[in-house]
Amino acid sequence: MSGLIASGGAAHAALLGLGAYRPSRIVPNSEIVDAIDSSDEWIQTRSGIKQRRWATPEETVQVMSVAAARDALADAGIDAHQIDCVIVATVSHLMQTPAIATAIAHELGTEQAAAFDISAACAGFCHGVAMASDFIRGGSARHVLVIGVERLSDITDRTDRGTAFIFADGAGAVVVGPSDRPGIGPVVWGSDGERADLIMQRETWPEALERGEMPNLTMQGNPVFRWASFAMAKIGLEALDRAGITVDELDCFVPHQANMRIVDALARSMKLPEQVRIARDIAEMGNTSAASIPLALERMKRDGEAKSGDTALFIAFGAGLAYAAQVVIVP
Ligand code: UT7
Repeated sequence: MSGLIASGGAAHAALLGLGAYRPSRIVPNSEIVDAIDSSDEWIQTRSGIKQRRWATPEETVQVMSVAAARDALADAGIDAHQIDCVIVATVSHLMQTPAIATAIAHELGTEQAAAFDISAACAGFCHGVAMASDFIRGGSARHVLVIGVERLSDITDRTDRGTAFIFADGAGAVVVGPSDRPGIGPVVWGSDGERADLIMQRETWPEALERGEMPNLTMQGNPVFRWASFAMAKIGLEALDRAGITVDELDCFVPHQANMRIVDALARSMKLPEQVRIARDIAEMGNTSAASIPLALERMKRDGEAKSGDTALFIAFGAGLAYAAQVVIVP
């Protein structure tokens, strides 16, 4: 017997293009404070959020994803038919099956790309980037589209003080493809299911429907805040170490945009030098879960804070608890 032929992939993978979609409806703190007995000052002090965006009915998960993906494809100079695989990270596509990724792949005009959704909450985008990198190096795909997209406003209780001011909507996308040099460092990822109850859908669909409600998100914010601020710094440093770079060689820090105080606490704990530019998209976009990292990087590029070729550290964390971090070269 001669055995099987091994699949051979590219020597390295890299981000080739970046895209974003920000919903049209801007929602300032003043619009939500009455329903949760809060204030603009409390929200800004505790979270850094000044406003967020909530999608209109027309801005569906698919519409936002396709817009962000087209942006990323144009940025990469890649045609949709060159995409072999579409990975969509989301927890707010409310149709459990089929995966929204197949409809997105079709609308974009890929030639029957493999397409599936992944559920790793706020860490979903970084999980998708890690998988895409390994698919390309393993020979399963040549170009992969990774989309992080959320319409969290659909599953957020507008009267819940712990979540109503945080969660928001949007989409970000990257094209991942072969490269001469490493453009995506080794992923450091994991989960802590013992604390799965800290952020969760409040109840199952049947339970919610019986009460005539959506199964909204619920979060014990403070324990998540403490976990993210301390444990995730170690994960970030490990990702730098595994990529073989020091904090002095880092150009940009793009953590999940969960809370401005977490962003600052992580930068302090990791002792990031002053010259490292830090993503602060949360002030204008709120917490968009799987979409927050590509959205934040897109803003940094647009504002001239990040440029092509820079090194950037991603750290993502959230419900599960699930987390993932990696160093990338900015496309
Ligand atoms: O994306 C997935 C991962 N998610 C995160 O990483 C989110 C992590 N958590 C957080 O961002 C923060 O925990 C929050 C922003 C959600 C809350 O900030 P906190 O500093 O942890 O506040 P807290 O829950 O400890 O509450 C402090 C005080 C309490 O009052 P007392 O007991 O000190 O009198 C709360 O009752 O603030 C009160 N409070 C509010 N006041 C006005 C809680 N929610 C509100 C509110 N408006 N919305």
